[in-house]
Amino acid sequence: MAAQNLRVPGPTPMPESVRAALANQMINHRGSEFKLLLGEVRARLASIFATQNEILCFTASGTGGLEAAIVNLFSPGDRALMVVGGFFGERATAIAQAFGVQTVRLEHSWGSACSPTALRDALRANPDVKVVYLTHNETSTAVTNPIGRLAQVIHEESNALILVDSVSGIGALPFETDAWGIDVVVSASQKAFGCPPGLAMLSVSPRAWEAVSRSRMPRYYWDFQRLRMAHNEGSTPYTPTVSVFYGLSAALDLMEREGAPARILRHQRAGDLVRNAVLDMGLGLFADPPHNSNVVTAITMPEGVSPKDVRDELRARYNTVVAGGQERLKDSIIRIGHLGFFSEEDLTTTLEQLDTVTKALVRG
Ligand SMILES: Cc1ncc(COP(=O)(O)O)c(C=O)c1O
Repeated sequence: MAAQNLRVPGPTPMPESVRAALANQMINHRGSEFKLLLGEVRARLASIFATQNEILCFTASGTGGLEAAIVNLFSPGDRALMVVGGFFGERATAIAQAFGVQTVRLEHSWGSACSPTALRDALRANPDVKVVYLTHNETSTAVTNPIGRLAQVIHEESNALILVDSVSGIGALPFETDAWGIDVVVSASQKAFGCPPGLAMLSVSPRAWEAVSRSRMPRYYWDFQRLRMAHNEGSTPYTPTVSVFYGLSAALDLMEREGAPARILRHQRAGDLVRNAVLDMGLGLFADPPHNSNVVTAITMPEGVSPKDVRDELRARYNTVVAGGQERLKDSIIRIGHLGFFSEEDLTTTLEQLDTVTKALVRG
């Protein structure tokens, strides 16, 4: 199969060293080599998460990590404040509801970020919520929520635990788990880490562990305590995705070599580059400044041009694959991912292709 010019906001293209690592022969997942690999990966992830908290690795996609967080933090009937401003906030709410959590929704319009004032008001109106859920980077709308500022409001107003979906944020955008006091953070291997899907990575604070020990939600595969016990012995309770661990170790080499400040700056420059080019070519940006995401851009089309036609043409002419909108945005935007391991040259080429395609479609 010809390699695609993959410009979706995850899965992201894998660097050569990650691809080579994935080709390693299988090892015994109960042996000393895997113990070393798991220990090394967990310690290095803690540094990317900027935390002293324990890191858990579930063989799952990001959604599995979110479900795990929900079934470990809550008991049926507990209340949660769910901050929702896009498809992934909606999904987290649906998961919580599926397990009998009483959800209070704080909605912000799709394309905007959550306002600290609205969050403060919601916390005052709902002083009994056990957990506040936030989406760091809402991939569906290309908005990055100001998690540090929102967490500060939560700490000022309540003792609620803070659960953050940073599936598409951490590793590419600034994130300070400990400095911001975030109790559970969920991320996934196929986003900023440039690996295949298959690993959900979470950090869990001591306060969250206390809640886990009291939670009465039924669970088995997702049980944090069972995974923690196995991790402490250098293992996992069930067969892990050994290959993705190999890939992640290689990706962490690259991420450490680049360093967090340079990585964050590279994504910031990519965000600016894509947004400026989009505006220069007469297309629109869906998300409100100043909360535009630096890992994905949501683009609106000129009157009469269908996002689906743009995507189809990019694919047909250049084998370039960009994402469409999700749910209510299905027919109104395209999304370009600039997340993980990409170069400015990759993006410039994609933007030139987008310009050619949209101009051709406008001319009809
Ligand atoms: C913000 C966010 N949350 C959750 C998910 C779900 O992750 P997964 O598709 O790995 O289950 C995604 C995937 O795109 C995401 O971008």
